[in-house]
Formats: sequence, structure tokens, C-alpha cells
Amino acid sequence: MRMSPVSIITTSDASKSLLHTGLNESYHSYYGALSESQLVFLSYGFHYQASQLQTKTIRILEYGFGTGLNALLVLKHSIGMQIYYTALELYPVNWELIRQLHYTTAVEAEEFDAVFREMHLSEWDQPVQLTPNFCLLKRKMDFKAFQAEPSHIDLIFFDAFSPDKQPELWSEEVFGQACQALRKGGVLVTYSSKGWVKQNLRKCGFKIERLPGPKGKRHVLRAVKPV
Ligand SMILES: C[S@@+](CC[C@H](N)C(=O)[O-])C[C@H]1O[C@@H](n2cnc3c(N)ncnc32)[C@H](O)[C@@H]1O
Repeated sequence: MRMSPVSIITTSDASKSLLHTGLNESYHSYYGALSESQLVFLSYGFHYQASQLQTKTIRILEYGFGTGLNALLVLKHSIGMQIYYTALELYPVNWELIRQLHYTTAVEAEEFDAVFREMHLSEWDQPVQLTPNFCLLKRKMDFKAFQAEPSHIDLIFFDAFSPDKQPELWSEEVFGQACQALRKGGVLVTYSSKGWVKQNLRKCGFKIERLPGPKGKRHVLRAVKPV
């Protein structure tokens, strides 16, 4: 994939997203950018894993920082927790474009306007303490080049472009590194439940749970690294 022009779209739940015109692929579901992120990543990922953990510290790894919507949702729900959020992204999006998505308004978190801006404008490849309880490390790199430090991540948001458009990112090799990064009992959530995606996850040792999807998608996946 090469970076090519992106344009703003409005999805069915009225929240905005971006369209990558080269791939003809949107950053979120056309049926609702916010609805998808809230269900798949926030509820099935963050809230689920936070309820399983014995501690108030949660280490998250996101494949595909994109607009930062998933990170913003976690930030909004992070009260009382200590968040270490690492995000991989090879093609950062310009802040001027992100600003026009009005995400802090969409998620009713206007108090985080300045923090969300800082999320995007802060340095890459170094940890930034955005709030007393939210530390962000954006790594400007290819998913395929990611070498996991073993067993330190609690939760993975796997939010690559679709397996139809970028099959090489949903491979056994990429999932193998994701699994390596997770501690036992760690989970990976993603919006695709394609047969060969599930197969590749299983080959890496994940146990798959199929969960009801947001509008327009029958199922999504939560993959657990067995204890
Ligand atoms: C579905 S979008 C991510 C959506 C994002 N989580 C959000 O909330 O906006 C997929 C992201 O993967 C990034 N990407 C595509 N190919 C990549 C690669 N090989 N390595 C790293 N990032 C890549 C794209 O630039 C895009 O931001």
C-alpha cells in the first residue's frame, strides 16, 4: 500500500470516517464508524479485558492508529486505570484532516479536545504521557516489521484495512508476532470474521470466540491466548 489521498465520509450512524481513495477502503464501517469502534474495540476489547484483570493497569497494542478513534474511546473510559497504549501506523494522517472529523464531539468527550490534538501532534517513536493515567507510544512502522517483546500486552486492537484489500497483513506471520506480544489470557479483537483469518489466528495458538457484530456485520472476533 502507498499513502494516497484520503477524503472525509459520513457513515450511517452520522459519525465521520476517512476513505483511502487508492484502496477504495474506509477506515471504519460504512454502517457506523463510532458504532463499530464502540462495540468491537471498546466493549469486546477494553471493557471485557478490564473486567478480567486483577490490576488497574492495562497494556494495549493497536494495529492501525489511523484517526485515533479507538485511542480516544479508551482515553474517555480510562478513569481509575493506568493505560499504556502502543499504536503501530505506517501512514500517519494529517491533523488538519482528523480535526474535521469532530471526534471529541461525536464521543461526547470535548474535555479531551487538547489531549486528542496532542495525541496526533506528539512525537512518533517515543512515549508521551498524555494525561496522568494515559501513556501513548506511536510507532511509525510496518505491521510486518513489528517484532514483539514477549508476553507484556493485555489487549490487541487489530484494526488493519480489510483482509480483502490487504491480505498480507492478516497473515500467520503478523498474527504470530501479535500472539507473542500478548501475555497468557491476553485478547485480540478484530472486526473481520473471515474463515481464513480465523484459521490463521488458530494456527498461531489463539482460541477464537465469535461475537455478534455491529450493524452490517454478522460476527466479529475475540481471539484469546490460552492460559
Ligand atoms: C482500518 S484503518 C485503522 C483505523 C483506526 N484504528 C482508526 O480508529 O481510525 C487501517 C490503518 O492501517 C494503516 N496501515 C496500512 N498498511 C499498513 C502497514 N503495512 N503497516 C502499518 N500500518 C498500516 C493505515 O494507514 C490505516 O491507518
